This record gives sequence, C-alpha cells and structure tokens, in this order.
Amino acid sequence: MDMDLVVENKEGKVDFTAGGFNGLISFLNQSFSLLKWVFSTFLRAPKDLSNYGSWALITGATDGIGKAFADQVARRGLNLILIKVVAHDFSGSDASVTLESIKEAVKEVEVGVLINNVGVTYPKAMYLHEVEEEVVKGIIRVSLEGTTWVIRAVLAGMINGKRGAVVNVGSGASVVVPSHPLYTIYAATKAFACPFLF
Ligand SMILES: NC(=O)c1ccc[n+]([C@@H]2O[C@H](COP(=O)([O-])OP(=O)(O)OC[C@H]3O[C@@H](n4cnc5c(N)ncnc54)[C@H](OP(=O)(O)O)[C@@H]3O)[C@@H](O)[C@H]2O)c1
Repeated sequence: MDMDLVVENKEGKVDFTAGGFNGLISFLNQSFSLLKWVFSTFLRAPKDLSNYGSWALITGATDGIGKAFADQVARRGLNLILIKVVAHDFSGSDASVTLESIKEAVKEVEVGVLINNVGVTYPKAMYLHEVEEEVVKGIIRVSLEGTTWVIRAVLAGMINGKRGAVVNVGSGASVVVPSHPLYTIYAATKAFACPFLF
C-alpha cells in the first residue's frame, strides 16, 4: 500500500512518500548507531573492571585478541583464569564435559568478568558443502556450545554476588557483510554471540 504523508511548513507543503519517510527513519537510525559506536569506542571513559569482582575468566587467551584482553585485564588489577591454563578443548568435548570442566575451574573464585573470546573458522574461504564435517562441528562446539556453557558456569556466581560482566567477542563477519559469503558457518555462529542477554 502506498501512503502519502504531507507536512506543512512556512514555504508550503512538503510531501513524503512512505518510502521516503522510511528512508529518513532508517538514515536517522544508522546515524544514531554510528554516533553511539564512536562515543563508546573513542570517547566514553573506561569502566573500572574491579567493580565487577576480582577474577576474570578469558577463553582462548594464549594468542591473538584473547592474549591482548588478558594483558589489559591484568593491567587493571584483576586475577586471571585463562582457559588454556585450565586446558579445555571446546571443540573436542560434549556440552556436559565443557560445563563440568569450567565449573571445576571456577569453583573457588568469584568470577566478575567473563570474556568469551575463543573462536575458530575455516582455513580458507569455502562453500558450506566443501567444509569438512569435523570442521563444521568444531566451529559449532566452540562458538555456540562453548559460549553458552561457559556463561552458564559463571552466571549463578555473578547473580549471587549481584555483579558481573560478560563480553562475547563477535565479528564484523556477522554484521558488516551479511552472511559473509564463503565463511557462512563462522559468520552465523558469531551472530549467535551478539544478542546474548540474560
Ligand atoms: N583475528 C581477527 O581478524 C578477528 C576479527 C573479528 C573477530 N575475531 C574474533 O576474535 C576472537 C579471537 O580471534 P583471534 O584471531 O585472536 O584468534 P586466534 O589468534 O586464532 O587465537 C585463538 C585462541 O583460541 C584458542 N583456541 C582455539 N581453538 C580452541 C579450542 N577448540 N578450545 C580452546 N581454545 C581454543 C587458541 O589456543 P591454542 O592456540 O592453544 O589452540 C588461542 O588462544 C575470535 O572469537 C574471533 O572470531 C577475530
């Protein structure tokens, strides 16, 4: 259905079609998102992580972004539980083993900050049917099951302590390039982590 919206101003009437109006709303929405991102990335003061508790749990912290997170969190004075120190392979275990292993690792401490950083993808760009079954299973176990069970393992403690922060590391693959052709499973599993609210 085509709808006309007519707005009067001093110079006369201005017509907006439904499409034009929707476009304006969409433009304002995108502009607001961009400004919010600029503010939170570059302008907002950093949070004091010690307000959340004295321990941080970081998955995939032996290398790359996880290692950098570990460094930053340690600089802010928190104790660290690095999942590789706990030596848990997210891709090789079923969900209950993952949950028990993490619970065991955190049972003596109050985890205030959880950084779900671990993530895996394919060795190269491929169509979905070309990716080996084990690789697909591994990505799903790491990004979907691992993320879910690690959160479950620490959430009760955070709720009891009435404080805590969970950071899920996503990817532009699931936001910037819709469906990220040739990395479909990776992009889809990264999208899973983003709207994770409790
Ligand atoms: N790099 C990028 O350009 C980029 C862009 C956007 C988002 N991200 C996201 O950022 C996060 C970190 O990426 P990264 O590039 O820094 O990763 P990375 O350098 O490949 O490091 C991955 C970390 O995860 C660990 N890991 C891998 N498989 C594991 C498994 N099955 N069980 C337990 N630990 C495992 C690795 O330990 P070992 O080496 O000991 O196995 C390592 O500590 C991921 O979630 C990724 O999706 C990365």
